[in-house]
Amino acid sequence: MKTVLVTGGAGFLGSHLCEYLLNKGEKVICVDNFFTGDKKNIEHLFENPNFRFINHDIIDPLYIEDTTIDQIYNLACPASPIHYQANSVRTIKANTIGVINMLGLAKAHKARILQASTSEIYGDPLEHPQKESYRGNVNTIGPRACYDEGKRVAETLFFDYHRQHNMQIKVIRIFNTYGPRMAQNDGRVVSNFILQALKNEPIEVYGDGNQTRSFCFVSDLIEGMYRMMNTDDFTGPVNIGNPEEFTVLELAEKVIELTGSKSKIIHKPLPADDPMKRKPDITLAKEKLKWEPTIALTEGLKQTIKYFKSLID
Ligand SMILES: NC(=O)c1ccc[n+]([C@@H]2O[C@H](COP(=O)([O-])OP(=O)(O)OC[C@H]3O[C@@H](n4cnc5c(N)ncnc54)[C@H](O)[C@@H]3O)[C@@H](O)[C@H]2O)c1
Repeated sequence: MKTVLVTGGAGFLGSHLCEYLLNKGEKVICVDNFFTGDKKNIEHLFENPNFRFINHDIIDPLYIEDTTIDQIYNLACPASPIHYQANSVRTIKANTIGVINMLGLAKAHKARILQASTSEIYGDPLEHPQKESYRGNVNTIGPRACYDEGKRVAETLFFDYHRQHNMQIKVIRIFNTYGPRMAQNDGRVVSNFILQALKNEPIEVYGDGNQTRSFCFVSDLIEGMYRMMNTDDFTGPVNIGNPEEFTVLELAEKVIELTGSKSKIIHKPLPADDPMKRKPDITLAKEKLKWEPTIALTEGLKQTIKYFKSLID
């Protein structure tokens, strides 16, 4: 049995990861400051004797002395533009000071550490689909830069700790992921559309809706993240996402169909620096992790719609 620390464990992805690790029989220490996470996401885990929760902000140093940590998954960071732009300086601090704190903790425990990086590090990509070797097209001074550049420097820190201290590091670049426990109010396209459809409100598509996205269901993502952590001699970075590409308009139409909604599609201005295309090349994940997504969009949307419906009801 390993002891695994998950930062951001009360969030959307983190709570699924904690659950997955407990089901594998690991001991889980969940660290979160509830900035965007929710106690409801992990409430059901509290009765498990292998689960421990620490309310902590990773921007402050964290010392754990009563047990030895084997692995750390670093997920603590607000992930949606509304949240990461609300206090952009704190977002940068989480990705610099916070990441240094977690790398320091891993170093002290001789633990393996995985960084939840993002497709945002590719910015508005000029290469399509994006391979790990693509260096990105990021606006360093735009409103998304606190997150995009923050995550880029976090990757740099991981590789410098690896070179300088010979630490076991892992970097995954997560592409758009959706599923139950996404926050209701964070403005991400899947949750926005589902909530608007369930309330029969107009579905707000930014721009003409021809921009493309790829959507990975949460269980596929967690499986890829776990495989990456437990594969030896491979640091990444590796893309984890679903390469099936849809326009935002297609997504809106699918959601209307699956919810049986009366909603009509309306168009709003495109936000600044919104990427026009996003699609992972997952050749590397297939080769190194023997991983690829298994849940089709329709199936994943059905499960997500069921979750949001239960919240509204
Ligand atoms: N969901 C996606 O599509 C996606 C895509 C790319 C990358 N990611 C990355 O995956 C990670 C998790 O994303 P998510 O979608 O679950 O978002 P989320 O907002 O639901 O989860 C983030 C969690 O981190 C916590 N947190 C934030 N700042 C913290 C701090 N300073 N100290 C301690 N806890 C803090 C929040 O309270 C929350 O529980 C993030 O690092 C995000 O950048 C997610």
